[in-house]
Amino acid sequence: MLLTGIGELVTNDGDESGFAAMTDAALVVEGGRVAWTGPAARAPAADTVLDAAGRAVLPGFADSHSHLVFAGERSAEFAARMAGRPYRAGGILSTVEATRAASDAVLRANLRRLSEEMLRQGTTTFECKSGYGLTVPDEARALALAAEVTPEVTYLGAHVVPPEFSADPAGYVDLVRGPMLTACAPSARWVDVFCEDGAFGADEATAILAAGRAAGLTPRVHANQLGPGPGVRVAAEAGAASADHCTFLTDADVDALVSAQVVATLLPGVEFSCRQPFPQARRLLDAGATVALATDCNPGSCFTSSMPFCIALAVREMGMTTEEAVWGATAGGARALRRTDIGHLGAGARADLILLDAPSHAYLAYRPGVPQVAAVWRSGRLAAGSWP
Ligand code: NIG
Ligand code: FE
Repeated sequence: MLLTGIGELVTNDGDESGFAAMTDAALVVEGGRVAWTGPAARAPAADTVLDAAGRAVLPGFADSHSHLVFAGERSAEFAARMAGRPYRAGGILSTVEATRAASDAVLRANLRRLSEEMLRQGTTTFECKSGYGLTVPDEARALALAAEVTPEVTYLGAHVVPPEFSADPAGYVDLVRGPMLTACAPSARWVDVFCEDGAFGADEATAILAAGRAAGLTPRVHANQLGPGPGVRVAAEAGAASADHCTFLTDADVDALVSAQVVATLLPGVEFSCRQPFPQARRLLDAGATVALATDCNPGSCFTSSMPFCIALAVREMGMTTEEAVWGATAGGARALRRTDIGHLGAGARADLILLDAPSHAYLAYRPGVPQVAAVWRSGRLAAGSWP
């Protein structure tokens, strides 16, 4: 397939790590991979030729942080926050109760609905966490369900301490890094800990991440979301792929992210939905950190599945350029997931493509809230939207 007449083709395949694009471009897909990109005037012949008519094409979004295995909803909690109440980790427990009580069929239907919603908005790869089961069978079930829809599955038994362990949090940590890990590791690639006041402290997080690593999982951390704290330091010491949230950072935290090469994954939908100060993306970028953007789609702190919305927030509220934000939502997400086959459109990349109903990537922030994803291809196949 030859896709030609592309007004702007975002490739992210320059010599330097960073946004790269060309105008008046074409792209050839063969066997589900990108075979060639270059000027439309020099495009080779192909069996199928599609004309983008001046519109933009970019790599599919890589949403490296979501919690999609859950039942129930918490719109009343959101409304209460907008009426002035703060976000607290404790709200998670109401979703835990609903999730434990739900059948596999209910959880699967919700998960599929949300993953299809993501796809229609251009997300071709997403990570999905457990964390609303918090018993051995409920966590294992969440991961098995997540594995049906994505290879990027994260074991988050350490989301909060469930009520039956409230008198024995150390006992819960032993469960999470012992029998629960054993049951969960076969269906997961990653291990995550919510390291925050009201959730897990530095020593607990370090022990759980080390156990996860010994079981073959790679760490990622919910860090510094609700206030300053040890999360980023723990992530750096654990060799985590990513520290997520990063809303309250000291200079030492920023240095640690840079020197340990931990991706800072910013989740601006959370700050929007919790009415918190936004993370300082500009400060991180200027210090040389790698910044990814993700949705954190979950029923509590942020119920958006929209990467375009996060891009718009990152540009408007976090000091990112349109190029940096689109890079963060594509190549940045790929880095956070340690993937080299996605997030860019260099030759050999997976042909995960977004056709925008707009002439450039900037429109994602320039026209906030407007559906502009015209078509989405996954591994070279039309997966959402329509052609032409
Ligand atoms: O990333 N911070 C912890 N976990 C989620 C929120 C989950 C919830 O509120 O249900 C987050 O914001
Ligand atoms: Fe999260």
